[in-house]
Amino acid sequence: MDGQATLNERMVTVGSIILLGAPGAGKGTQAKKIAGHYSIPHISTGDLLRDHVARGSELGKKAKAIMERGDLVPDDLVLAMVEERLNRPDCSRGFIGDGFPRTVKQAEWLDQYLSGKVFENQRDRKLAPIVINIAVGYNQLMRRLTGRRSCPTCGRIYNVYSQPPSVDELCDVDGGKLETRRDDREEVIAERLKAYEAQTRPLTEYYRARGQYFEIDGDQTPDAVSAEVTKIIDGHRL
Ligand code: AP5
Repeated sequence: MDGQATLNERMVTVGSIILLGAPGAGKGTQAKKIAGHYSIPHISTGDLLRDHVARGSELGKKAKAIMERGDLVPDDLVLAMVEERLNRPDCSRGFIGDGFPRTVKQAEWLDQYLSGKVFENQRDRKLAPIVINIAVGYNQLMRRLTGRRSCPTCGRIYNVYSQPPSVDELCDVDGGKLETRRDDREEVIAERLKAYEAQTRPLTEYYRARGQYFEIDGDQTPDAVSAEVTKIIDGHRL
């Protein structure tokens, strides 16, 4: 999809895009493609938190055990981290949220934040985010998460079942040794799915009531999902 976009198409003002979906739905896979296509930042709260854990920051020390058991990190910690990230200049034409917001409180905070935000060359005052929910069934989610590998250097995501690297366990881009996420063990995946049902699924109703909410079938090839996501964004961006 990237190769089809002209430079002008990529430099449009997009606004806020939110990818919703259960763990393993393909949010990270799609967010990377979309961020590249529109040249906007991919803001993954999971990646930001894992970076804090790896660096051993104060936030990372608080988040580590919570993430390893599959629970959500408290809203106040996540919101402070996200506010700092959204205020950076690279978000001036928009951003794509992956794993954020994840609770109704986080969504309310984002609405409030966006009410005070003006994106570069914004054509109108339509500020509700474009929310795209990627729907995938339980068995497929389990298979995707237990098969996921990622490159610690470039962040590329693979799957041993559906998108294996050319050489076993090595990244196609930089040859780095692929890693399995610590929370991709079956017992932790089960906890993450419970947290999703209890705290994140209610967001679908929250956003459905505000318009600009779209659901797509995530059980298609990544390119087919990307094509649907791009069509929605192009039809509703700022
Ligand atoms: P986070 O990192 O956000 O994890 P998650 O939501 O559980 O989502 P995943 O990254 O597991 O899945 P994904 O949907 O991105 O799928 P992916 O594209 O990788 O959060 C981790 C933890 O951090 C949380 O548990 C929580 O503790 C904390 N946290 C994060 N944000 C928070 C917040 N806002 N508030 C509080 N706590 C927070 O794909 C999965 C696999 O499937 C890959 O192998 C991929 O190759 C494959 N795949 C993808 N698409 C397809 C396809 N179409 N067909 C076949 N295979 C596919």
